[in-house]
Amino acid sequence: MHAVTLIKGDGIGPSIMDEAVKVIDASGVKIQWEEAFAGLAAFEQFGTPLPDETMASIDRTRLAFKGPLTTVVGGSGFRSINVALRQKYELYANVRPAKSWAGVKTRYDDVDIVIVRENTEGLYAGLEHYLTPKKDIAESLAVVTRTGSQRVIDYAFKYAQDNNRKKVTVCHKANILKFTQGLFLDVARETAVRYPDIQFDEKIIDASCMHMVMDPSQFDVIVCTNMFGDILSDLTAGLVGGLGLIPGANIGNDAALFEAVHGSAPDITGKNLANPTAVIMAGVMMLDHLGEHEAAAKIKAAVEKVVNEGKFVTPDLNPQSKCGTIEMGNAIVEAMK
Ligand code: NAI
Ligand code: MG
Repeated sequence: MHAVTLIKGDGIGPSIMDEAVKVIDASGVKIQWEEAFAGLAAFEQFGTPLPDETMASIDRTRLAFKGPLTTVVGGSGFRSINVALRQKYELYANVRPAKSWAGVKTRYDDVDIVIVRENTEGLYAGLEHYLTPKKDIAESLAVVTRTGSQRVIDYAFKYAQDNNRKKVTVCHKANILKFTQGLFLDVARETAVRYPDIQFDEKIIDASCMHMVMDPSQFDVIVCTNMFGDILSDLTAGLVGGLGLIPGANIGNDAALFEAVHGSAPDITGKNLANPTAVIMAGVMMLDHLGEHEAAAKIKAAVEKVVNEGKFVTPDLNPQSKCGTIEMGNAIVEAMK
């Protein structure tokens, strides 16, 4: 029995997380779900977006399965709880795999890219403020440390070795941001020497975007600082069929959190339209992390069958489909039998 903190989240969160829990439970793996609250839902209910009970649960389980949390744009709302959780539990590696699906038609059929995003520092360190009372000058500070860079870059190279990957590309902007990006690039170059079996490449971030949309096959594992990874992973999502398909793992040395790459999707909330695939695949990553490889493989095969058949899928994958979140979850459970 594994204890997991379950945070259903905001917007489409509860609807897709219910399907994910249903699918994971149907795989036969024994999970004891500890439901906890965070984000806008928690703020409205408890007056804080991150209640102590939620952190107490993660302190116990060291493992969270989380739906998307709404973070209001601009200065009036609370700071991102996603960023806060990643920093508090030092979940320094954000792993976001994007792979083409045989049944999902896109421009390319050979995309297979894993982004390893630094997840605790960079421009998301939270050092942002106005410099004048009139609020007409604002600044953000990007923090890059050798330790923070080293642990995520090592993670990327080890990930490449463990998963039979050939190449690690560091995407950076060290030509302009000579110290912060320069430090990250230096650590990547030093680290690459220690992994002679893995090919190493370096690309400037803007050119990387152009290369990625023109020929994604030249990328394998990518490692980069926080904000570049955030942006690039939505780009890779777009290459394989959209945000409804991409899971993410947030890995630290003694805690981990699994979620989709996408957000709370207010535009489709409450309409039974949200694709549960991304969070279900995040569940697969969580089960692999727990060593429950058999259950993980079973769920993965069922998701692949349903997505590739394209019949019981949500309209983001097949605009003709009348199938919703719940029906797709049911089809995945059915495919596991
Ligand atoms: P979003 O990812 O929620 O939505 C972008 C677009 O993708 C929308 O058109 C949405 O309908 C579509 N989409 C997203 N997930 C989908 C799914 N499962 N199935 C089908 N279509 C899907 O990004 P947006 O609108 O910029 O952000 C909304 C909120 O989510 C914001 O408050 C943001 O801060 C938060 N957010 C939270 C994240 C997290 O909790 N890890 C990650 C990203 C955003
Ligand atoms: Mg994002």
